[in-house]
Amino acid sequence: MNRFKFFKEGIRNLKTVGTVTRSSRYLCDKVINHSKIHQARVIIELGAGDGVLTKRILKRMPDDCKLIAFEINDMFIDTLEAIDDPRLIIAADSAENIQKYLDDHNLDQVDIVYSALPFSVIPKEVANSIINISKSVLAPEGEYLQIHYSLIAKKLYEKIFGKVEVFFQPINIPPAFILKCVKE
Ligand SMILES: C[S@@+](CC[C@H](N)C(=O)[O-])C[C@H]1O[C@@H](n2cnc3c(N)ncnc32)[C@H](O)[C@@H]1O
Repeated sequence: MNRFKFFKEGIRNLKTVGTVTRSSRYLCDKVINHSKIHQARVIIELGAGDGVLTKRILKRMPDDCKLIAFEINDMFIDTLEAIDDPRLIIAADSAENIQKYLDDHNLDQVDIVYSALPFSVIPKEVANSIINISKSVLAPEGEYLQIHYSLIAKKLYEKIFGKVEVFFQPINIPPAFILKCVKE
């Protein structure tokens, strides 16, 4: 999907997409660089959009790793389904249903959750629930990395995970923060 189509989809569904620009490759790379992707066996991506981060995760994750990518927008799901990689499982469903997909695919604990979910437009209770579910499925030392355009929500992650590390990527529209939490 090109940038203009993403822009149109963002405008049409601003309340669920939360932006009109997809993440830059610099932001995607920075998110991945701050995770232990080379050791991962199970990865979850929340809010995969048109697959900009998905493709980069697939490029860098081990051959025996599985990636479950959650997305609710039909047009983005069509684009994701065109990615030809047997390690990728597309969950055309809300991120609230992570456990169901792990059970269906006989997967146990998750090593990394990458999220670009637009928590600024998602109801607070739903956001809270998704972050708590993510923590519950993570293995000890498992990593949760969230893209945000501000630090307003940082306290929420501190409440759920304890410590939160913050990284900044200016080369993105808009400039973005990465919040990284590790399950103790
Ligand atoms: C900000 S976009 C990120 C897209 C892409 N990952 C990127 O980095 O450019 C957020 C995506 O989350 C999806 N989304 C919103 N609510 C969701 C939910 N409850 N479960 C799964 N995906 C959701 C939207 O449809 C949208 O594609």
